[in-house]
Amino acid sequence: MSAKEDILSIREQFNLAAASVDSEGAINELRVRYLGRKSNLTAVLRGLKDLPPEEKKEVGKLANSVRIELEASLAAMLDSIQSASKKPGDVFDYTLPGRTRKLGRLHPITRTIEDISRIFYGMGFEVAVGPDVEEDYYNFEALNIPKDHPARDMQDTFYINDDVVLRTHTSPVQIRTMKSQDPPVRIIAPGKCYRNEAISARSNAVFHQIEGLYIDVGVTFADLKGVLNVFVKEYFGEDVKMRLRANYFPFTEPSAEVDISCFLCGAKGCPLCKQTGWLEILGCGMVDPAVFEAVGYDPEKYTGYAFGMGIERICMLKYRIQDIRRFYENDLRLLEQFL
Ligand code: DAH
Repeated sequence: MSAKEDILSIREQFNLAAASVDSEGAINELRVRYLGRKSNLTAVLRGLKDLPPEEKKEVGKLANSVRIELEASLAAMLDSIQSASKKPGDVFDYTLPGRTRKLGRLHPITRTIEDISRIFYGMGFEVAVGPDVEEDYYNFEALNIPKDHPARDMQDTFYINDDVVLRTHTSPVQIRTMKSQDPPVRIIAPGKCYRNEAISARSNAVFHQIEGLYIDVGVTFADLKGVLNVFVKEYFGEDVKMRLRANYFPFTEPSAEVDISCFLCGAKGCPLCKQTGWLEILGCGMVDPAVFEAVGYDPEKYTGYAFGMGIERICMLKYRIQDIRRFYENDLRLLEQFL
């Protein structure tokens, strides 16, 4: 028999044997017998070197193609035996919808801080930060709130010791900023604040504020009103109106609270505005000369305004969230509504 005939007969025998294979073991035996080191096909390949050049080329080609054919058919047999033995659950169902990947999102508080900050960036304010664990001096003293001042009682302070507190507002960032630079100063300072209050739908021991401060020569109350008016219209809507009510803060004089017309009912009166038509959103005023004294600015030369707002409150109003504790429960049904 010529080498060529040998190869063709190996293939024929293989196909005959393959017809009765019914297990992985039998497939492996077949592989050893037809492709192993001692197989006839291997012997043919080994003998190639003794053939005349013309025949060598032709026989080599045929032997290789048969080898590839046998390997492919062994692989196909193995595959069909394995998939036949699979339980229904093992089989991949190509008709199932794909698994969706959940997108991460910003927390509503972060989102609110970013939205508010963006409006003030647009008007030339820079972001400043200060520590959460703050000296009594920055949190109170330099803000014209001495030790015996009644305003301290209103702030339910967490004391670390006699001189160190968890800051009760972001106003100490005003002091730190003014102490570290000369006017003009134009900053906003977002961050966490802490008060030792009973936790309820309206108050949480940890919350956030954004502080604003602008100091320069010739800054007036009209500038304050103008900036807040731009903020209110950009954040709450063009139709929303703003009003100022006289108030008292130790670090501003005069001081005011800002209300906006209720954007839910158009100031007609509804549960959100408790039928008053107005929503209180922030405190503000002209920086008190006593504060300038504390930071070493000349109160005869400079004037300025400050404002401070509670982020949770603004976010609750804007998105009509009824309970401040929702922000800290990490319930995806709430969080997924924010981008
Ligand atoms: N720090 C005040 C508070 O926590 C809020 C505030 C009021 C900040 C008036 C100011 C301001 O800068 O001018 O209640």
